[in-house]
Amino acid sequence: MRVIIVDNAEQAGKRAADLVEAEMKLHHNAILGLATGSTPIPLYKELIRRCNKGRGLDFSTTITFNLDEYVGLPPTHPQSYRYFMDHELFNHININKKNTHVPNGMVKGLDAIQRECDAYEAMIDDVGGIDLQVLGIGNNGHIGFNEPGSSLGSFTRIKTLTESTRRANARFFKSMREVPRYAITMGIGTILKARKVILLATGESKAKAVADSLEGPVSSLCPASALQLHRFATYVIDRAAASKLTLDTYERQ
Ligand code: PGA
Repeated sequence: MRVIIVDNAEQAGKRAADLVEAEMKLHHNAILGLATGSTPIPLYKELIRRCNKGRGLDFSTTITFNLDEYVGLPPTHPQSYRYFMDHELFNHININKKNTHVPNGMVKGLDAIQRECDAYEAMIDDVGGIDLQVLGIGNNGHIGFNEPGSSLGSFTRIKTLTESTRRANARFFKSMREVPRYAITMGIGTILKARKVILLATGESKAKAVADSLEGPVSSLCPASALQLHRFATYVIDRAAASKLTLDTYERQ
């Protein structure tokens, strides 16, 4: 595992943007896996800046797959992850929206949802798999919406959100009752199939999950610990998120 520790969230965004840009330069059609949440926003701001000014970073042939989507929220709902991606990134770069994929949370019925999940997984495989997957981490160690207890071999499927995740995300909704109870998420097995992974974490509230995932045992109780099994996983974290790490082998910048 490579662990890069920077001063703050803005620096983490810039450092992660360097890694994404390097990957895009390696492939004509880079296949990126993307995440939502507060943590990747500085990364997306930096990618927008590099696309529009300075470096002319080109997304015209880039293909993206998002990790997850709430069940029951249409793409027009301001808290849906499709809406988030359009507003935080896609509307501001030269990407072809047809090449951007977010699971469809509006499919009704468990069988139809599983078919949707299988089709999402197949779409990823059909384009040759994800070159670089961007991840955040939940306070409880989740990646995507793979909550503690998720199978480490899982593929895209519906998951029940834990109360702690619903509470953490309630800040974006008018009331706790409006927070969805289910989500479609890539599995941990899907994430492990990506050729490279970057996990971003910033702030003190992530310090325990970061330490458990890097220095604890590989366990479904801390889903991010599965990244210890990945050959090219890089953590880009700030000092606050690194504050509970004990080893002295990490890259401090
Ligand atoms: P956050 O969410 O970036 O909003 O903290 C991360 C996550 O839950 O994966």
